[in-house]
Amino acid sequence: MKIGIVGTGMVGSAAGFALALEGVIERLVLVDQNTALARAQAEDIAHAVPFASSVMVDHGDYDALSGAGAVIIAAGVSQKPGETRMQLLDRNAAVFREVVGEIRRVCPDAILLVASNPVDIMTDVTLRLSGLPRERVIGSGTILDTARFRWLLARHLGVAPRSVHAYVLGEHGDTEVLAWSSARVGTVDLSRAAAQVGAPVTAELRERIDTGVRRAAYTIIEGKGATWYGIGAGLSRIVAAIARDEQSVLSVSGRTPNLSAIADVTLSVPRVVGANGIVADLMPDLAPEESEALEASATMLAATAAGVTV
Ligand code: LAC
Repeated sequence: MKIGIVGTGMVGSAAGFALALEGVIERLVLVDQNTALARAQAEDIAHAVPFASSVMVDHGDYDALSGAGAVIIAAGVSQKPGETRMQLLDRNAAVFREVVGEIRRVCPDAILLVASNPVDIMTDVTLRLSGLPRERVIGSGTILDTARFRWLLARHLGVAPRSVHAYVLGEHGDTEVLAWSSARVGTVDLSRAAAQVGAPVTAELRERIDTGVRRAAYTIIEGKGATWYGIGAGLSRIVAAIARDEQSVLSVSGRTPNLSAIADVTLSVPRVVGANGIVADLMPDLAPEESEALEASATMLAATAAGVTV
């Protein structure tokens, strides 16, 4: 599969680097309004390929995207220290009006994978701008938050992160919902598993992990100015599910038609992802307080998206 990346700053290039190492695609094309940056990123990533794969890495203008099966959109501005993701909305919506149109001109059938923040709103904007069916417009959403949640639980429990099955739902942002009640270790519910490995889940631990997930980006941005490795790997994971038609369950952002009481809104729930994009939504059972928090996240996102003219 050929994959395009539009926007080759830290997030886009980190996704390209992860894809080059993963080797699940055949071709990678980097596009940026700053052509010198796209060229340099492509060349730097290409020099990693001989150590890991045989991915062909190129750069070019929008026309170079022709034939791409999926295009990652990482264009626009990213958070500065202390800035919320929502504060990027107006600037990135303006960027997307041009970017989405150009991508659709060159590869109208490509799945669009949105990374730019606020990613749920930008995914909704992309869906409306592109006119594509909802299953072919995917946002990275809470795939990164879910990874952070699993990482922190795994480190507490002393088990592999891949053996922790726990999801973050809703907004990729301050209203996100950690679904503690459906968290499992292997097939054992979290609280029983934690007791069995002698690492009980206390109220203090829940608070510490909730804050650790919810505030991760702010903390990292304070220290290094931006985040890119986690989101880059998350984008590569979604591309792998598409390129290999995996039918994997990933918490990604997408238009969610009337899931439970949630009206049409673009947010993250666990979904089956394969060659045609989103195959099915898999809504986990939630505790009452989690359902209420998800409704609040959905209400905020729906209201914000309604205020964006595309
Ligand atoms: C983060 C950015 C990608 O959460 O929103 O690191």
